[in-house]
Amino acid sequence: MLNLEVKISAKEEAYPIYIEQDKIENLKSKIAKHLRGNKVLVVISEKVEKLYGKLLGFSKEEKFVLKDGEKEKNFNNYKKILEKAFEMKLTRKDAIIAIGGGVAGDIAGFAAATYMRGIDYIQVPTTLLACVDSSVGGKTAIDTSFGKNLIGSFYQPKAVFINLNFLKTLDERQFKTGLGEVVKYIFIEKSCFCKEELNFSNFINENTEKILSRNLNTLEILIESCIKLKIAVVEQDEKELGLRKILNFGHTLGHAIEKITNYKKYTHGEAVVEGIRFAFKLAEKRGLIDKNYRFFADDILKKFYFRQITKLPENKLLEAMKMDKKSADGKIIFILPIDYSIVKEVSLNSDEIF
Ligand code: GLY
Repeated sequence: MLNLEVKISAKEEAYPIYIEQDKIENLKSKIAKHLRGNKVLVVISEKVEKLYGKLLGFSKEEKFVLKDGEKEKNFNNYKKILEKAFEMKLTRKDAIIAIGGGVAGDIAGFAAATYMRGIDYIQVPTTLLACVDSSVGGKTAIDTSFGKNLIGSFYQPKAVFINLNFLKTLDERQFKTGLGEVVKYIFIEKSCFCKEELNFSNFINENTEKILSRNLNTLEILIESCIKLKIAVVEQDEKELGLRKILNFGHTLGHAIEKITNYKKYTHGEAVVEGIRFAFKLAEKRGLIDKNYRFFADDILKKFYFRQITKLPENKLLEAMKMDKKSADGKIIFILPIDYSIVKEVSLNSDEIF
């Protein structure tokens, strides 16, 4: 079992991230060691409940089963989770446990952040995307009709339990969407200022087949590397005042694609990969990189056979990008590559984009 730690500030206690391949039935007792009270509210994704509910061993009364899909990360479910917490009479010593992908983690985390001004929560990510991104770093949120994640808070979990066994049953499209967030780290690695040199692009290039066939030992190293990079960033800039924005590489266009297709047609990772391709083209057009680096990026992306995005109307994409919480003063903020594994923030007018 690997044990990483996140230390946000001198005032706050560090929290552990466990990465392991132990039996799923052992998780509950491991989680129990991180609880202060004797009650838990488990927010669990419906798919995970069907596959692993019995093995996990939480009672029906403790569980709030959340349907799958981004549209479930809404006000109504947030309200229902809080109502369930009140019905269960959770106190400030008790905890919420999120078991599932990013949707379960984000909404459960936001409920934990706001219930009685904040109670403990534990993340058990079961998708690749949640393992490498959303379960680490304390971003919690719900969506509104105005956009994704527009209501939320930065609120760190007490512990994160990553069990590789969940990834065995993840459907192929969900697995690939996680890989979309994984490849992002290749292009931002040096900008993360992680003390350890991971050479992530070499690792990905040398292990593509094992990654695609879900070799668990390879995935364990892959997840560990992504998390080390993410921890490095989050520890330097929890609240996304500067450095953390680099984690949005590929997301400016990616979020716009998701939004104008109503979060239905493409997954988050598919949209982010398209956003990464676009960021490379834009950087080349602006003379920030040469074509060889763009070819290098295209070659890596091709190896994973990501789903192609059909051409979407530029005016709608622009409109959506302006609404994004990353844009300011009518300008659209992009994270663009400037050298191998190095990115920078660039603020552009609408007419400088397409
Ligand atoms: N998902 C990007 C971040 O956590 O900042």
